[in-house]
Amino acid sequence: MVQLTGPKKIKTAVFISGNGSNLKSLILFSRKKNSPITISLIISNNSKAKGLKFGKIFKIPNKIIKYNNRLIAERKIITEIKNNNIELICLAGFMKILSKHFIKKYNGKILNIHPSLLPKYKGLNTHQRVISNNEKYSGCTVHFVNSRLDSGKIILQKKVRINSNETSTSLASKILVQEHKLYPKAIKKLFNL
Ligand code: GRF
Repeated sequence: MVQLTGPKKIKTAVFISGNGSNLKSLILFSRKKNSPITISLIISNNSKAKGLKFGKIFKIPNKIIKYNNRLIAERKIITEIKNNNIELICLAGFMKILSKHFIKKYNGKILNIHPSLLPKYKGLNTHQRVISNNEKYSGCTVHFVNSRLDSGKIILQKKVRINSNETSTSLASKILVQEHKLYPKAIKKLFNL
């Protein structure tokens, strides 16, 4: 588990592949006085990820890591993590699966946000599957990353109600609004704040 030692903020890297709206909410949170983290690195496997713009806006360095080969990609990521003294990794819409080796190396230091009430609806196309199954509720989950997909220890969840006319798109936006609040809240919980 990550320990807060004194007033120093925990150096955090956020991994993204797409829009980066969770990255933005984490950056805004990190800049609050009572936040336990500072975001000092953004990693993306996708040079076209829209979320990279937040690195520019908030002046946080980013590294694009090409994923032609996972072993090589993870070696580069590990070098970046070491060079930047990163202590916590937040996955935020990062669409690559991390290897068992990588996860073991940073055991207890990698968090993820998933748009369902885990353990239900692990994996992709969550909202579509939730709607097809006529669920009454869905939500989002922040959890530790372990070697099984979307299966690590749950830190915090938020439930949302599904309307009768809900579509996967409307559900996705409704849940995303909650994700932006949940990720910072889960990080505070981790540090007993
Ligand atoms: C979010 O729904 C997150 O739960 C999932 O991927 C999406 C990323 O959205 N893992 P964004 O890139 O943070 O806007």
